[in-house]
Amino acid sequence: MIEACLFDLDGVVVDTAKYHFIAWKALAEELGFEFTLEDNERLKGVSRMQSLDILLEIGGLQFSEPEKLAMAEKKNTLYVCYIEKMTPEETLPGVEKFLQELRNAGIGIALGSASKNAPMILERIQLSGMFDAIVDGNSISEAKPNPEVFLKGAEKLGVLPENCVVFEDAIAGIEAAQNANMYSVGIGDQETLGFADLVIPGFEGFTVEKLKACLPFPQK
Ligand code: G6P
Ligand code: MG
Repeated sequence: MIEACLFDLDGVVVDTAKYHFIAWKALAEELGFEFTLEDNERLKGVSRMQSLDILLEIGGLQFSEPEKLAMAEKKNTLYVCYIEKMTPEETLPGVEKFLQELRNAGIGIALGSASKNAPMILERIQLSGMFDAIVDGNSISEAKPNPEVFLKGAEKLGVLPENCVVFEDAIAGIEAAQNANMYSVGIGDQETLGFADLVIPGFEGFTVEKLKACLPFPQK
């Protein structure tokens, strides 16, 4: 029986990839190389320091650990300038309605995000109160595809992993859900996320009823 839904944040609840892009691009330009939108795709679902490693690999550059920490800090300062100004209108279409439906159905809701900025983003889009549990980049030690973020979410909600559904837009996130033995729903296109249990383009028109109809486990 479905007892909880766990949501990734970036690319599922909000589109922050465009702000990450602006900030990483600014850093790349400062270092003297081009960073494209296609490159940015590689950073989705990837932690801040791992993202920096990928960026530096693209630029063919190497730095010491303290230098990298300073660069990540600088990128984040610029990124925060953008997310600080986010408004509830930036919540992706259909998300709030779906969360409300889950609440009405008595299904637990948790956030499972790699972002250390998750609490601020949820506050800006005024959705903090919708989540019964929040697990973010501040409380995990292993990055997706490690299942830690989702297992911690299930534990906080007091539900078994096999009764959880994960909504994710990144390949590593779907893998994390599968590694956690949870039902995975990919948000995006079939071509990229086809290995998820279910793929939907977004939450617009999606309902708890439709979700239940797809689930393999028996429903009440
Ligand atoms: C999410 C995003 C990534 C981002 C990561 C860390 O997983 O998809 O692009 O790098 O969070 O975000 P942060 O806000 O902590 O830098
Ligand atoms: Mg994501």
